[in-house]
Amino acid sequence: MEERLQKFLAEAGVASRRKAEELIAEGKIKVNGKVITELGTKIDPQKDEVLYLDKIISKKEVEMIYIMLHKPEGYVTTAKEQFGRPGVMDLVSGIAARIFPVGRLDYETSGLVLLTNDGDLTYKLTHPKHDVDKTYIAKLYGTPDDMDLQMFRRGVFIDGRQTKPAKMQILEKGERQSTVEIIIHEGRNRQVRKMCEAIKHPVAQLKRVGTGELTLGDLPKGKYRHLTPAEVKYLKSL
Ligand code: URA
Repeated sequence: MEERLQKFLAEAGVASRRKAEELIAEGKIKVNGKVITELGTKIDPQKDEVLYLDKIISKKEVEMIYIMLHKPEGYVTTAKEQFGRPGVMDLVSGIAARIFPVGRLDYETSGLVLLTNDGDLTYKLTHPKHDVDKTYIAKLYGTPDDMDLQMFRRGVFIDGRQTKPAKMQILEKGERQSTVEIIIHEGRNRQVRKMCEAIKHPVAQLKRVGTGELTLGDLPKGKYRHLTPAEVKYLKSL
């Protein structure tokens, strides 16, 4: 059956779907010996020969890897880092497949990051239409009041645009800081930090503890584990 070249490359574990589109546009992919730069190009994996870096790409040979990492603060999740800061991939060893992070967590944020070579799943999980809940535990300056919680539930304005409704629950009140649980389902840049700033309770510390039904549990900071088959099945069902 025919399918789009970028989807094929993503499913074969070459790169995320967006990155695969870049590879095609940059003329790095050959189909049946010819460089293809047209993004909509369809191929038949049964008949066509796809080459990347002059290696034949085939879906069947690639083992799909799904990992949950507890990212510490002070690591970047982006592949290219211009300031020489450590990246999350430095924490993972012994995996031959080309895995990459699903979405981003800020340099200063800790917590759950998924790593995979399944470009198709990455595309699904990071696409705005999929609305996967992301759960955070945050330490905030001050204690939000009922009005603040209500604002969160309605959505607050950040970068000139209202966020979708989010949830905030107070877990602990301290003298100068409070601990809250926050659930959002978008993935806008520094969204939690900006939302908390908007209600005048800036974030002092932020940790992602859940993506959908997957939870970080007691996975130690800086460590990772492979997802169980049931967890992978769940992610694919989203
Ligand atoms: N929101 C943030 O502000 N930072 C993150 O890393 C994730 C969500």
